[in-house]
Amino acid sequence: MENKVNNQKDSLSMKSLIVLFSYHHNNTEKIAKAISEVLNAEIKMPEQINPEELQNHDLIGFGSGIYSAKHHESLLDLADKLPEVNNKKSFLFSTAGITGKSKAYKDHTTLREKLESKGYTIIDEFQCKGFNTNSFLKLFGGMNKGRPNDQDLKNAETFALKVKKNL
Ligand SMILES: Cc1cc2nc3c(=O)[nH]c(=O)nc-3n(C[C@H](O)[C@H](O)[C@H](O)COP(=O)(O)O)c2cc1C
Repeated sequence: MENKVNNQKDSLSMKSLIVLFSYHHNNTEKIAKAISEVLNAEIKMPEQINPEELQNHDLIGFGSGIYSAKHHESLLDLADKLPEVNNKKSFLFSTAGITGKSKAYKDHTTLREKLESKGYTIIDEFQCKGFNTNSFLKLFGGMNKGRPNDQDLKNAETFALKVKKNL
């Protein structure tokens, strides 16, 4: 009971932000919304972020589609501009055409390394499939039609609950 009360208090007083870039089919936006509901987090685009304002948040999620094996350039550029922090908690997420064991880890490496070099602690990472009609794929109706699906959104919620629990 006491724990439950403390957890409620923590999630109420905790200030979370999600920095999102999603343009191809708004796939990652769907994941961001599912996560934001659990964390009660505001969602902003990189261009809306004043790097200094991140200091005011206890938890920051960074997510986009994967384009050429990395997060979107706008997130990578933002990470370059961020001031140094001391162990600020953050998490990474993405949607991608191809997923699988250790794929997320590789796709997230560029952003992870930039953030870690600024003093961010990445507490967890999430990736799922996203509809992809890039290049020649559109000629065949694309890959991963319907993704993220309901199960992906549930998995994103479960991920967010785990992040919240491990804060
Ligand atoms: C220009 C471009 C490059 C892409 N490169 C990759 C890639 O390197 N690896 C991958 O798994 N998916 C790749 N994809 C697929 C996207 O990651 C996938 O469709 C993602 O869900 C898009 O997210 P969004 O709708 O939030 O923008 C690429 C898509 C585009 C449009």
